[in-house]
Amino acid sequence: MSSATEWTATSIQSIIDRLKHKPGAMLPILHAIQDEVGYIPEQAVSQIADSLLQTRAEVHGVISFYHHFRTTPPGRHTIEICRAEACQAMGCRSLEQHAKTTLGIDYHQTTADRRFSMEAVYCLGNCATAPSIRIDDDIHGRVSVDKFDALLADYQKQMQEAG
Ligand code: FES
Repeated sequence: MSSATEWTATSIQSIIDRLKHKPGAMLPILHAIQDEVGYIPEQAVSQIADSLLQTRAEVHGVISFYHHFRTTPPGRHTIEICRAEACQAMGCRSLEQHAKTTLGIDYHQTTADRRFSMEAVYCLGNCATAPSIRIDDDIHGRVSVDKFDALLADYQKQMQEAG
């Protein structure tokens, strides 16, 4: 999911109620909330803790253990940079450095204008055209620094036009 959607305590609770009887319910609940909302709101932490009879600290512990989970809303677009072997061999480290500098953020962060978030991934199944990135649902291969800049400019332009 690329952007946060509206949520309410009721919508969060219905996700929890649907999954809380599963064995090891915490992870499926967290995944479902993040898929639905885009991140894990603080309000959800209390609701999960109450519903699973755990402390908020225990829920926070699970969230912080798994890098996948976010506790802040994602940007309008999420850029994932592949750091796995084939992409490393084709220069993804310099690409990621360029992306960090250009966007002014590190992995798991969102730009101040909330347009882009950046995440690391480990193989996008696109090794033949490494280095690869994914922006939202679209995978891009042979991403040079210039190609990255051009992609970014396209997304910026689309957002400007959309207002
Ligand atoms: S290693 Fe990057 S796409 Fe497979």
